[in-house]
Amino acid sequence: MGFYLLSLSQLLSSILFLFHFQTTISSSNNSSPSHFCAHDQSVSLLQFKASFSINSSASVNCQHPKTESWKQGTDCCLWDGVTCEMKTGVVTELNLACSLLYGTLHPNSTLFSLRHLRKLDLSDNHFKSSHISPQFGQFSNLTHLNLNYSVFAGQVPSEISLLSKLVSLDLSKNDNPGLEPISFDKIVRNLTKLRELDLDSVDMSLVAPNSLTNLSFSLSSLSLRRCGLQGKFPGNIFLLPNLETLDLSYNEGLTGSFPSSNLSNFLSVLGLSNTRISLYLENDLISNLKSLQYMFLGNSSIIRSDLTLLGNLTQLTSLDLSDNNFSGQIPSSLENLVQLSYLDLSNNNFSGQIPSSLENLVQLSSLDLSNNNLSGQIPSSLKNLIQLTNLYLSNNIFSGQIPSSLGNLLQLRRLYLHFNNFNGTIPSSLFALPSLQYLDLHSNNLRGNISEFQHDSLSILDLSNNNLHGTIPSSIFKQEYLEVLILASNSKLTGEISSSICKLKSLQLLDLSNNNLSGSMPLCLGNFSNSLSVLHLGMNNLQGTMPSTFSEYNSLQYLNLGGNELEGKISPSIINCTMLEVLDLGNNKIEDTFPYFLEALSDLQILVLKSNKLQGFVNGPAAYDSAFSKLRIFDISDNNFSGPLPTRYLNSLEAMMALDHNMIYMRTTNSTDYVYSIQMTWKGVEIDFEKIRSTIRVLDLSVNSFTGEIPKVIGKLKALQQLNLSHNSFTSHIQSSLGNLTNLESLDLSSNSLTGRIPTQLGGLKFLAILNLSHNQLEGPIPTGEQFNTFTANSFEGNLCLCGFQVLKECYRDGDQEQSLPPSSYNEGDDSTLFGDGFGWKAVAMGYGCGFVLGVAMGYIVFRTKKPAWFHRMVEDTWNLNKKKTRKKVGRRN
Ligand SMILES: *[C@@H]1O[C@H](CO)[C@@H](O)[C@H](O)[C@H]1NC(C)=O
Ligand SMILES: *[C@@H]1O[C@H](CO)[C@@H](O)[C@H](O)[C@H]1NC(C)=O
Ligand SMILES: *[C@@H]1O[C@H](CO)[C@@H](O)[C@H](O)[C@H]1NC(C)=O
Ligand SMILES: *[C@@H]1O[C@H](CO)[C@@H](O)[C@H](O)[C@H]1NC(C)=O
Ligand SMILES: *[C@@H]1O[C@H](CO)[C@@H](O)[C@H](O)[C@H]1NC(C)=O
Ligand SMILES: *[C@@H]1O[C@H](CO)[C@@H](O)[C@H](O)[C@H]1NC(C)=O
Ligand SMILES: *[C@@H]1O[C@H](CO)[C@@H](O)[C@H](O)[C@H]1NC(C)=O
Ligand SMILES: *[C@@H]1O[C@H](CO)[C@@H](O)[C@H](O)[C@H]1NC(C)=O
Ligand SMILES: *[C@@H]1O[C@H](CO)[C@@H](O)[C@H](O)[C@H]1NC(C)=O
Repeated sequence: MGFYLLSLSQLLSSILFLFHFQTTISSSNNSSPSHFCAHDQSVSLLQFKASFSINSSASVNCQHPKTESWKQGTDCCLWDGVTCEMKTGVVTELNLACSLLYGTLHPNSTLFSLRHLRKLDLSDNHFKSSHISPQFGQFSNLTHLNLNYSVFAGQVPSEISLLSKLVSLDLSKNDNPGLEPISFDKIVRNLTKLRELDLDSVDMSLVAPNSLTNLSFSLSSLSLRRCGLQGKFPGNIFLLPNLETLDLSYNEGLTGSFPSSNLSNFLSVLGLSNTRISLYLENDLISNLKSLQYMFLGNSSIIRSDLTLLGNLTQLTSLDLSDNNFSGQIPSSLENLVQLSYLDLSNNNFSGQIPSSLENLVQLSSLDLSNNNLSGQIPSSLKNLIQLTNLYLSNNIFSGQIPSSLGNLLQLRRLYLHFNNFNGTIPSSLFALPSLQYLDLHSNNLRGNISEFQHDSLSILDLSNNNLHGTIPSSIFKQEYLEVLILASNSKLTGEISSSICKLKSLQLLDLSNNNLSGSMPLCLGNFSNSLSVLHLGMNNLQGTMPSTFSEYNSLQYLNLGGNELEGKISPSIINCTMLEVLDLGNNKIEDTFPYFLEALSDLQILVLKSNKLQGFVNGPAAYDSAFSKLRIFDISDNNFSGPLPTRYLNSLEAMMALDHNMIYMRTTNSTDYVYSIQMTWKGVEIDFEKIRSTIRVLDLSVNSFTGEIPKVIGKLKALQQLNLSHNSFTSHIQSSLGNLTNLESLDLSSNSLTGRIPTQLGGLKFLAILNLSHNQLEGPIPTGEQFNTFTANSFEGNLCLCGFQVLKECYRDGDQEQSLPPSSYNEGDDSTLFGDGFGWKAVAMGYGCGFVLGVAMGYIVFRTKKPAWFHRMVEDTWNLNKKKTRKKVGRRN
């Protein structure tokens, strides 16, 4: 307190000094003194101005900083945003909404010396999480206070309750990190003149809804969207006689019941979306809502849903009934709502056709019928809705052709028809729509060419999962605002990818995968757009090398060039992609050594390099302790890697050691929402995973020339679901530490030179569904255990000295006679105790002479052909069904 007094007196003396100074200057100007603003006011305003910078990103859609006109020596009453009282020259209104102000509003700000303010509007600026100072309580004559959307944070001080003349208070949309009211009771009780209260996004989770009971009788507007209110909403507020606006949407914990009678005659806005406040849709209510213009009842608690009644609310301009489980036909009575400009019936179970009577709603600018069971053709009468800017019909079962009459809707900006059964070609009229920004037709049965776009307004284009053919039209590369381009999975798109694609500087997502594109990969793709977060050109016939110049500060999170004909090396500049999470270069012809420099990519979660011509040891200079620590899928199978397994890497695969119980799908985290897809060998079958759960953990080092022991540390990778070390030259026995991999669902160690017994610990792997130990030189009894009893001879064949019912060969107990095996080899449970670590397979093989020659010969044959036919049969039978399931796509963006 003492501090404030001191600085205030300092302030006053400096004001007096400046006052003196200014009077001398301005005395030369004899214009009417009654229009002159008081000098202390002028000084305060200038100091206020000086305490902020002007930042173009501080306000949305505003270009004009009002304080620019504030100049010393001029009449402050004429300044932009400033209103004075004529007689005294004191500032009574300050409107700095949308003025690009950026900086902290301190409690010592000279704003607070403008005591005579009646209206103060600081909305839509950036006050850098300033607290709302208790000093606001000193504006004793304030009637209007607007701090909307200005990045204020912290508690709303109880001093606000001193503003007893307030008519309008707006603290809404300061939600990051957020505002929280204290003494809300006090504020509500004292503001008896309040007519408008807007606290959207203020955290009121600790406020009892009951304290709203005391709100001013004259309240006409109450907006409490997203306030975290919990409990029963006081019924008397619904009945306030002057209420025009009541919006309580997005308070999921709010209960109560909305009355059907005695409502305000003026009620024009009613928002109960995402609340549990029940509402009886009945005659009484409808006849009491005659003035209603806006009705927001998405995901609400509507009881008795005779939707036909809604046709009586003829004043409605906006109606949201989304997410309510409504079924049956869309009521044709809606045709009476001729004022309607916004209609949202999405996420229900409406069925049947779109009623053609909807053509009467000629004011409609947004129509959302997505996520229902609507069927039949789209009525061509929709062409009468010439105001439509947004038309969402996705996720239904519409069929037939897309009517070319949609081309009449010249205002159309967003057209979503994805996930339906549309067939035929894309009508050329759509390509001529002058304002089209979002066009999403993915997952239909559309065929034919993609025509040239007549305009360059596109920002999202998704035509994936259709049967389109031909080349990519060059007009796409002229869409300078294009952010998302997805033409994937049309299988017949041909031709080259023109390097003019790199003109699309705004591109964030480019997916042309699963087509028949050929020619060389445009090398500019590494550095044309710093906002690009997804680049998926996999499964095409692209040739040449991968882009070699990934620039610094790029945003790539997903890079998939797999399944092409790429040659050359892996570009080290890829380490500039510091946000990379997925890298798939598999199924190409890349000739290189192991790209150890990828260790630098600390966010890398999926690395697929399989089926290339990579060779040499898998290791590198130990520059990073935590190399690959976030990897969940590591697939370098089918290359020519040799030498021992890289123990250093195995030791740092931390993500494979820790279980992740988050059942979310992996996706981009920034701006665009793109669910990662990948082609992967899963339990033996190559499957297109359209999405990947974050829980998945796979290590696939198969079909290489790795040698030596399987290192014990592999037992640390406890979260692994799939481990494939098959078709290498591993020797020695199977580590009993593999028994620690309790989440393993698939284990393939086949076609190596493993010796000794199968560790009994493997019998404890509860989830193991696929086991392949075939074509080694294993011996002794096959462990028992629930899972092991389900495996057939296929899992063990080519190991001549194994015994157990699976291989139809009895194991002899102690004391029984068995010719081909010396007794010691089956009395002990664990090889390591029997032979000691490092006991090699050669010694075992020579010692017993059992199946050695045959085993090696068969291993060799299998190695050459890589995928034995029986293996295909076995796993394909198991996985065909699931394969279909995983191919089904779900919505990426809605
Ligand atoms: C006084 O100031 C006003 C506004 O700044 C200006 O229009 C006027 O010409 C000035 N008069 C004199 C005598 O300087
Ligand atoms: C106001 O307070 C802030 C922070 O306490 C300080 O940085 C600033 O210099 C003060 N301004 C004036 C004019 O005293
Ligand atoms: C507040 O308004 C009253 C009545 O208009 C006026 O007399 C009083 O001076 C005002 N107070 C301030 C601080 O401006
Ligand atoms: C209510 O407002 C009056 C001024 O009208 C003020 O004197 C009083 O302290 C306020 N009460 C509370 C609880 O803030
Ligand atoms: C609704 O409109 C119909 C026909 O216009 C009328 O018969 C009915 O009385 C109205 N119901 C209410 C509750 O206004
Ligand atoms: C398109 O779908 C409609 C309705 O399902 C069907 O009658 C028609 O034969 C289909 N046309 C083509 C070319 O497949
Ligand atoms: C990363 O990008 C910068 C400039 O964009 C480039 O100079 C540098 O060589 C790149 N790094 C690598 C390893 O290529
Ligand atoms: C989003 O991108 C920014 C840079 O553009 C980066 O600093 C931030 O870490 C990213 N966020 C996530 C969650 O990846
Ligand atoms: C396997 O688990 C056992 C018991 O939890 C532990 O003692 C052993 O160190 C583990 N082995 C490895 C390689 O993690």
